[in-house]
Amino acid sequence: MKTIKLNNGVEMPVLGYGVFLVNSEECERCALDAIEVGYRLIDTAQAYYNEDGVGRAIEKCGVPRNELFITTKVWISNAGEEKAFRSIGESLRKLKTDYIDLLLIHQPFGDYYGTYRAMERAYRDGMVRAIGLSNFYDARFVDLVENVEVKPSVLQLETHVFSQQKRMRELINDYGMHLMAWGPLAQGSDRLFTDETLKAIGTKYGKTNAQVALKFLTSEGIVAIPKSIHKDRMASNFNIADFELTEEDKETIRRMDTGKLKVDFNDPDMARYLLEYDKKFNPNS
Ligand SMILES: NC(=O)c1ccc[n+]([C@@H]2O[C@H](COP(=O)([O-])OP(=O)(O)OC[C@H]3O[C@@H](n4cnc5c(N)ncnc54)[C@H](OP(=O)(O)O)[C@@H]3O)[C@@H](O)[C@H]2O)c1
Repeated sequence: MKTIKLNNGVEMPVLGYGVFLVNSEECERCALDAIEVGYRLIDTAQAYYNEDGVGRAIEKCGVPRNELFITTKVWISNAGEEKAFRSIGESLRKLKTDYIDLLLIHQPFGDYYGTYRAMERAYRDGMVRAIGLSNFYDARFVDLVENVEVKPSVLQLETHVFSQQKRMRELINDYGMHLMAWGPLAQGSDRLFTDETLKAIGTKYGKTNAQVALKFLTSEGIVAIPKSIHKDRMASNFNIADFELTEEDKETIRRMDTGKLKVDFNDPDMARYLLEYDKKFNPNS
């Protein structure tokens, strides 16, 4: 598996598997299937309420823990130093592991500076190997990065062929950070699977649109974490190591960038939705 080296020296697989919108029971089966297919990076989050499913898969899969790379994220309702620190302990317990490979702040809401201090503490205590951010943009991103002691290693953002995050990629480069693409298949958009430009490129290599889209991201040094509950799709999404895109192919795909995101976290209604999310979706609330 191809890896990238983070700004603190930790090696991270460039292709992983995401488990958003997969319930805990199914998540165990999905994560086991994904590991069997070959994935070693699994991306979960406190807010997915399936960390325990990932934990059972880690325990049962038979792959040594140090060959896996587990990412999780602290949710808004756990913001603030003490609460976030406790929640990290809870994530470790659910994930049935002594350490998290990469821990992110899921959303820049609430006392996220407190959350970051808790993550720095967990990092120094060896509970976490690398820390980072998700859904931080522009000034909010720069303000945090400039004001913390342990520089974040990764920024996770919606990124796919139609939205390639050129501006944020330039910005994170200044801090030696890496981009991790959520929604790398445009969250299952038909537009991606039927796109004629991707199809024409894929035909040359006997590859699908999804495979070309994922190869493009990883060849740009962007970590991609496609999600599928279907083992055959997991396998197909993983099967991108046996071809290379030419510079011309990549230039063609770069021109597909619209600069527009599917999900607008700046929308006030979306902000209210996120702030209420835990009350609606936490099975224990
Ligand atoms: N930080 C954040 O705020 C954030 C937000 C969203 C997601 N994420 C992370 O990023 C991961 C990936 O993003 P995502 O799950 O939103 O979207 P995605 O991976 O871009 O797309 C997933 C969708 O594509 C379908 N799909 C997958 N492979 C396919 C294939 N080869 N052919 C046809 N359809 C295919 C899946 O359906 P089936 O499952 O039915 O196959 C699912 O509906 C998440 O699972 C999560 O770990 C993070």
